[in-house]
Amino acid sequence: MTWELETDRLVLRPMGRGDVEALVPVLGDPSAMRFYPRPFDRAMVEAWVARTLERYASDGYGLLAIVERGTGEVIGDCGPTRQEVDGEPFVELGWHVRADRQGHGFATEAGAACRDHAWTALAPPRLISLVRPENVPSWSVARALGFRPWRATVRAGMAHVVWTIEAGDEVSR
Ligand SMILES: CC(C)(COP(=O)(O)OP(=O)(O)OC[C@H]1O[C@@H](n2cnc3c(N)ncnc32)[C@H](O)[C@@H]1OP(=O)(O)O)[C@@H](O)C(=O)NCCC(=O)NCCS
Repeated sequence: MTWELETDRLVLRPMGRGDVEALVPVLGDPSAMRFYPRPFDRAMVEAWVARTLERYASDGYGLLAIVERGTGEVIGDCGPTRQEVDGEPFVELGWHVRADRQGHGFATEAGAACRDHAWTALAPPRLISLVRPENVPSWSVARALGFRPWRATVRAGMAHVVWTIEAGDEVSR
């Protein structure tokens, strides 16, 4: 896993087990995580990081830790994961930002860096983002990155919209 990206305000780097502590308040926030079946407890965050490390090994990529350069703190995660939608594999971009750091454009800044690097590093035919229709903050990030709604699917028993950008349709690059 070699992705290490820098933006004006952020460093995006591979996640490690040492990031669990910082990710507990990100993934465990009951309000921010209201579109998930439940906020993550510590064991779920440990499993999330372990799964990310497995993805680095099996897929060569996975979610990155978002480090705020100003404070050096890990304030979230963002990046690509391999996701199957209705039996077909895609590169999905996802994002989580700690509640007290939301609303500053960090998810959009991190997502833009991941989007741009994904085209170069992975050359997928399309990028997708899987978002519940109710999750306005998340689809606002997708829209700001140039994704558009493509089709509907069901994940974990919940309706999701598949947002997409096609290669060659990289309007916002
Ligand atoms: C989705 C999330 C990562 C956005 O993080 P963020 O750093 O606050 O996002 P940004 O500041 O980059 O905002 C991006 C866009 O979302 C909009 N937005 C952010 N929070 C919003 C809210 N609560 N309500 C409505 N719009 C919101 C912003 O106005 C902006 O839109 P614009 O470009 O049209 O102005 C954050 O809300 C989060 O971590 N949510 C919980 C985890 C989650 O649901 N992840 C996605 C799973 S699919």
